[in-house]
Parts: sequence; structure tokens; C-alpha cells
Amino acid sequence: MMLTRHNLSTHALHFLTFSVSAIAQLAAPCPGLPTASTVCINRHASVMPYPFFRFHPSDGSLSPEDSFPRTNTTDPTFALVRNATFLVFDHARAADILGPDPILEHLFDLPPGFVHEAPVYVPSINSVIFSALAQDVVPQLIINLDGPRPTIANYTPEPPVYGVNGGRYHDGKIYWAVSAGVPFPHPEDGSTVLQTPGIVELDPTTNATRTLLNNYYGAQFNSPDDVVVASNGDIFFTDPWYGWSGNLTAAPVLPAATWRFRPATGQAQIVESSLVQPNGIALSPDEKTIYITDTGLTEFDMPEHVLPRFSLNSTGPRYLYAFDLDLEGKGGRVLTEKRVVFLAAEFGTDGVHVAADGSIVGAIRERVDVLSPEGELILQIRSTFVVNNVQFVGPDLDELWLFGYGGVSRVKWNLKGRLEGRASS
Ligand SMILES: *[C@@H]1O[C@H](CO)[C@@H](O)[C@H](O)[C@H]1NC(C)=O
Ligand SMILES: *[C@@H]1O[C@H](CO)[C@@H](O)[C@H](O)[C@H]1NC(C)=O
Ligand SMILES: *[C@@H]1O[C@H](CO)[C@@H](O)[C@H](O)[C@H]1NC(C)=O
Ligand SMILES: *[C@@H]1O[C@H](CO)[C@@H](O)[C@H](O)[C@H]1NC(C)=O
Ligand SMILES: *[C@@H]1O[C@H](CO)[C@@H](O)[C@H](O)[C@H]1NC(C)=O
Repeated sequence: MMLTRHNLSTHALHFLTFSVSAIAQLAAPCPGLPTASTVCINRHASVMPYPFFRFHPSDGSLSPEDSFPRTNTTDPTFALVRNATFLVFDHARAADILGPDPILEHLFDLPPGFVHEAPVYVPSINSVIFSALAQDVVPQLIINLDGPRPTIANYTPEPPVYGVNGGRYHDGKIYWAVSAGVPFPHPEDGSTVLQTPGIVELDPTTNATRTLLNNYYGAQFNSPDDVVVASNGDIFFTDPWYGWSGNLTAAPVLPAATWRFRPATGQAQIVESSLVQPNGIALSPDEKTIYITDTGLTEFDMPEHVLPRFSLNSTGPRYLYAFDLDLEGKGGRVLTEKRVVFLAAEFGTDGVHVAADGSIVGAIRERVDVLSPEGELILQIRSTFVVNNVQFVGPDLDELWLFGYGGVSRVKWNLKGRLEGRASS
């Protein structure tokens, strides 16, 4: 386009109003989205008016006060940020994801001291099976979606499994990453059940479990934390040290790492060793990218009797990484092209899932971040409780359920999940 005098001046004028409004108004209602729950952040709040102040504890630890919404600014519109359920950073993409009427609905109160993890939706029984992860708590939980309101009950498969930390659906079965490695009493008959950390398969139609992996040439895994299953049946799992830190298993003997396990041959092979504490893991829909989070900001410096046996240091690793994935693994190149794609605004990403459109959905403290496949922040869901993991739920996988300390809630919106373990291109 030729720059005429006329469009030059409108261009300059536009630029002027834009930069002034970015400073004067950090937050505003989002056009086309409900004003009661949704707030748009202008230009990622990248220029805050002076003075602004975000509290950081002087010892480097993390505090709930140390967050984006609690940053003190002189801009009165920033009050909207503290109240919003949905914080929108990329309006065009967020509008597609949220749809015209997104809601966050609280479903169940659960005991506040338990991590709630490994949520898996099972289409054949229209139910979610998930885990209450705490010392001496064995049964899992099941939520049935038939009926006008979902109903919740304890769930004990046979043999029972203690300390389920991650789970994925594949071809009618659930695959669990199991953290606990101590003998425990059977919840129904009190007999002693022996278990080491590993991978367990659950058939949700019979409630029967089968151990697929419980050692590495005689050594115990640390505490498999999260798992994904590729369409060819390969299982990828992270093995950090959190099981020991929660006293669910013995002190680590293996480095924290990410593994591929092939049920067809029984072989577990290390595929990634550079992350400090690998945690959440997820596959892109075409299975060409694998995402792994590192919560290495945990420092295992607590005395034996203090649980969890770690403190947090905000300058430590709290990254989301992407890798190219080659299921053939020619020349041993299974995970290649490691790149860091996201640093959370607060804390680090825990459980992570990928939507049908490739968006990355990650649980982080009192919120869920929705990112583009490249790791750009599109929106946040602000929760009232700490979210440990999320899962797409329902016959159309069109609800996102949040599981964490103190509860289960759900978001109704436009973003859909996909049945995992099936590649799509
Ligand atoms: C956090 O880590 C940094 C860098 O390693 C270190 O200087 C600092 O002392 C640590 N803070 C705490 C509270 O451990
Ligand atoms: C934020 O501002 C309020 C009101 O001015 C003040 O009371 C509070 O101490 C400030 N918080 C921090 C962390 O500076
Ligand atoms: C925040 O929410 C509270 C409670 O719903 C309400 O009283 C208050 O007016 C809201 N503040 C803003 C800035 O919207
Ligand atoms: C499996 O467990 C569920 C929930 O406890 C129960 O409703 C179902 O009948 C069980 N299935 C079998 C085959 O025992
Ligand atoms: C850790 O678990 C063992 C049993 O496995 C128990 O004897 C010990 O008291 C527990 N420690 C803490 C700090 O809870």
C-alpha cells in the first residue's frame, strides 16, 4: 500500500491512542464475552503505570501474594483482574475457546489436604475415575455423569492400587502412573498388598488391575507421576521424586527422568534426563510433539519428618518444554529438539493436557492456563482451590473438569478434548 499523507496521519493517531490507553487501562470488559466473569488484559499488561509492586518473599520462596492478579498497581481497572474467573490475554483466540457463555461451576467439595490426580474419563461407563493422593489413603474415586447431577463414590479395583498419580485412557483401558511403593492394607479385607512404584493397567469394565511395570532391572522407580499413551501403545511416563517427598515410597535410587515403556516387549527405556523434576506430560494430536513440565523449583531440603519434604524456590526450573517425538526412534532419537515454550506467571505447570485443536491446558496452583500449541498464553481460568490436574469430560469431551485440593469443578465452553491414544493429523 502507498502511504499517503492521509493514512500516515491516521496511522500515527492510532498509535498514539493505543499507547496511551495501554497504560491508562490495564483491564477492560471483553467485547462479546460475559462481563461478570471475564476480563480482557490489554497487551498482556506489558506496560504498567508506575509505581507498581508485586510482592516476592525475600527468601526466594513462593507466596500466594506473589502473583499477577495481586500485583499492586495504581490503575483502578486492575481491580477487575482480581475478581475475574476468566482472564483473557488473546481476545480473538479466547473468544473461540470460551464461546459466548463460558461458566465455571463448582461440583464437589473434597477433603482439602489431599492431592486429587489422574482424572480419566471413560466413555463406556460415562464416568471419571480419579485419585485421592495422600499418605495411607488407598481407594480411588469415581464420578458418574448419568442422571441430572453427577454423583461421586469411592472406587476400589482388584487388586487395589495405592498412590495413583497419573492416568490416561487408551483403547478401553486406563493406564496409571503409580507413585506409592510400600505394603498397604487392602481397603476391604485388611490383607497386606505388596506394591512398588510403576505402571498399572485398569480395565474399567471389570475393575481388574494388572501391573505392567514394577522395577528397572531390580531397582525401584522413584514415583511415576504422569503418563501418556501413544496410539501405537507406547507409554511415556515421568519419574520424579515426589512419592518419597510425600512418604509414599522409599528414598530415590534412580535419577528423576522421563521413560518410554513398551508393554509389547516389557522394556522401559530412558528417553529424557535433562529435566530436574519432570512432572506433567502430554501429546499433541498428531503425536509429533510431546510436552513435559519441569517442577524442579522444588528443593528436597526438608527433614524426614516434615511432609512434603521439599521447599519451593521461584528461581528454580518451572518450565513447560516441547520436544519433537519420533515413535520409531531411529538411532535412539525419540525425543529431540528440546525447547522451552512457557514460564508460568506463578509457580510451575503440574498436570497438562492437549485439546483437540492443539491448545495446551495446564493446571497451575489456583488456576488453569490455556496456551497455543507454541506456548503463547491465551487465557487463564482462576479457580477457588489449587488445581492439581484437569481432564476433558463428557460424551463430546466438551467440558474441562478441574481436580485439586478441596474440590472438583467444571468449565463449560467451546474447547473440546480428544480421545487420547489415537493420533489425528
Ligand atoms: C533459591 O535459589 C537461588 C539460586 O540457586 C539461591 O541463591 C537462593 O538462595 C535460593 N533460595 C532459597 C530460599 O533457597
Ligand atoms: C498494596 O496496596 C495496598 C493499598 O495501597 C496496601 O495496603 C498494601 O500494603 C499493598 N501491598 C503490597 C504488597 O505492597
Ligand atoms: C468483586 O466481587 C465482589 C464480590 O462478588 C464485589 O462485591 C465487588 O464489587 C467486585 N469488584 C469489582 C471491581 O468488580
Ligand atoms: C466396578 O466398580 C463400579 C464402581 O464401584 C461398580 O459400579 C461396577 O459394578 C463394578 N463392575 C464390576 C464388573 O464389578
Ligand atoms: C512414613 O511412612 C512410614 C511407613 O511407611 C511411617 O512409619 C512413618 O511414620 C511415616 N513418616 C511420616 C513423616 O509420616
